[in-house]
Amino acid sequence: MKHLLKLLDCSADDIVGLLDLADQLKYEKKHNITHRHLEGKSLGMIFQKSSTRTRVSFEAGMYQLGGQAMFLSNRDLQIGRGEPVQDTARVLSRYLDGIMIRTYAQQEVEDLAGYGTIPIINGLTDFCHPCQVLADLMTIREKFAVLEGLKMCYIGDGNNMANSLIVGGLKTGMKVSIATPEAYRPHAEVMAFAEGNPDFFITNDPMKAAENADVVITDTWASMGMEAEKEARAKAFAGYQVNDDLLAAAKPGCMVQHCLPAYREQEITTKVFEEHADEIFEEAENRLHAQKAVMVTLMAEKKD
Ligand code: CP
Ligand code: NVA
Repeated sequence: MKHLLKLLDCSADDIVGLLDLADQLKYEKKHNITHRHLEGKSLGMIFQKSSTRTRVSFEAGMYQLGGQAMFLSNRDLQIGRGEPVQDTARVLSRYLDGIMIRTYAQQEVEDLAGYGTIPIINGLTDFCHPCQVLADLMTIREKFAVLEGLKMCYIGDGNNMANSLIVGGLKTGMKVSIATPEAYRPHAEVMAFAEGNPDFFITNDPMKAAENADVVITDTWASMGMEAEKEARAKAFAGYQVNDDLLAAAKPGCMVQHCLPAYREQEITTKVFEEHADEIFEEAENRLHAQKAVMVTLMAEKKD
């Protein structure tokens, strides 16, 4: 692996390798075993959208690995005044050892990788959120010990999370069922990847999607950049809430995941959220471990 731009680019072995390393790094962290694999290295973190988890977990993770991370806000970079990403990539490649970028267009991330000479990590685009889904898969595997054969159900907007969950879930042998309104289906590229796979099911009926699910996942109805559509979306997604009725269709004791931030009484009830808070905050913690695995895999000196 040279970059983490989207899970569509990763093989099943790449994903499982990252999850295995993430488990090991988590174990080492819990047992105070230092792992300074990125001593002397620098990561630039370009943010064109807000973030709590991604920013803090990458920054803390890089520090724990012996390196340093630089927060580069769109407001301060020349990118914000129109300098092309192609030029930014070629300049930053001469200073840094890796770049994490959170932005709108997936093409911008692909361009950074195309023009730069250092590893690029996608920290969320409108198209996908690969780091989050690695953390989700890690959390699910911690609970069930396997991924293969488990049923993952995603309810709500066919957004960046839905796109990455479909790809990550199917690549690791999970059954993936999705419920979205007709007008909010996942991206066409992801639908093309998933369609025809007997493990993939998509419907506009949340109850049907949730049937017998081992894991139920949701996300905000209005992602970053879609604030103007908030009201229209609240109407369109009204029947797509993760609540007790929906969970009654899933397997008893099913797991609930939410990438956060969560909007209570919209995509998830406060009751379901609080009853599954341990799982949801473990998922948030696992961002740290999963991203450290990504950084070590992409940025550490290779020992042949
Ligand atoms: N889940 C997630 O990516 O959170 P932030 O937007 O806070 O980084
Ligand atoms: N779908 C959400 C995820 C936030 C982490 C968004 O893009 O805003």
